[in-house]
Amino acid sequence: MKGKAKRSKTNLGLPIVILICFLFFVAGFFVSSLFSQDVPRVRPRLRTLELVEEIEQEGQLGSMPHGDTGGASIESIPFQVLSWKPRALYFPNFATAEQCETIIKIAKTNLKPSLLALRKGETAESTKGTRTSSGTFVSASEDETGVMDLIEQKIARATMIPRTHGEAFNVLRYELGQKYDSHYDAFNPAEYGPQQSQRVASFLLYLSNVEEGGETMFPFENGSNIGTGYDYKKCLGLKVKPRQGDGLLFYSVFPNGTIDRTSLHGSCPVIKGEKWVATKWLRDQEQDD
Ligand SMILES: *[C@@H]1O[C@H](CO)[C@@H](O)[C@H](O)[C@H]1NC(C)=O
Ligand SMILES: *[C@@H]1O[C@H](CO)[C@@H](O)[C@H](O)[C@H]1NC(C)=O
Repeated sequence: MKGKAKRSKTNLGLPIVILICFLFFVAGFFVSSLFSQDVPRVRPRLRTLELVEEIEQEGQLGSMPHGDTGGASIESIPFQVLSWKPRALYFPNFATAEQCETIIKIAKTNLKPSLLALRKGETAESTKGTRTSSGTFVSASEDETGVMDLIEQKIARATMIPRTHGEAFNVLRYELGQKYDSHYDAFNPAEYGPQQSQRVASFLLYLSNVEEGGETMFPFENGSNIGTGYDYKKCLGLKVKPRQGDGLLFYSVFPNGTIDRTSLHGSCPVIKGEKWVATKWLRDQEQDD
């Protein structure tokens, strides 16, 4: 009996053990397959979260304690170096379309034919046709919308030339065929007499697109065309096509203060459409206005 019972126990037990083992195996397989499906679904989400946190931390770590006149955040103003001769930078999307339209609206009511600074011996009559645009000066303080104030601050940050060194915005409109022959923004004392304050850089903000023509040109870029009897009315050299909201900065003098001959520039005639531009001249002395 004893032996028989023993035998019958083991006989019954074996299939049960095999069954249990089989069930565990199947269950294990099922559970592991569940996990292996979940793993790839969960991981990328965790990774992107971690990345975002890392980037946020970097931003905080990257910025420095700032001085009384500094700013708290790190900002970026995209730019492209267009030339070193003259030193010219292009700033895509410096202002928004709405900001540009606001400036045009403010300037529109007050346009007058643009004037020229005359050299010794020149008269309004003798220089007729050199600059055919209409324009007006508007200072940021006259603009109740605050747009010009924002733009002026951004120009100061982009150039690190304080706002106090800027003239009021000269907002210009060039209609069909209108242009500005090549000229310098800096005043050469030999031609204009002694200068108390010099224009060192110019920031142009294009307020409109121009369908055709109206480019800002630098005929002497990298020294080309100098001493070749260049006709100042000709539109050639490095050309910058106006695009609404884009900025163009160039320096008229070298770091040592002498005039950079390659900063000669002009506005090509508008062939199709209308050109609106706001110019800010930056000087080496503070401005009173
Ligand atoms: C720029 O001008 C210099 C001097 O004339 C010349 O040697 C050089 O090749 C020019 N650079 C380019 C890219 O044309
Ligand atoms: C000023 O700098 C320019 C460009 O570096 C140089 O060609 C010129 O000789 C300098 N003029 C003086 C007076 O130092």
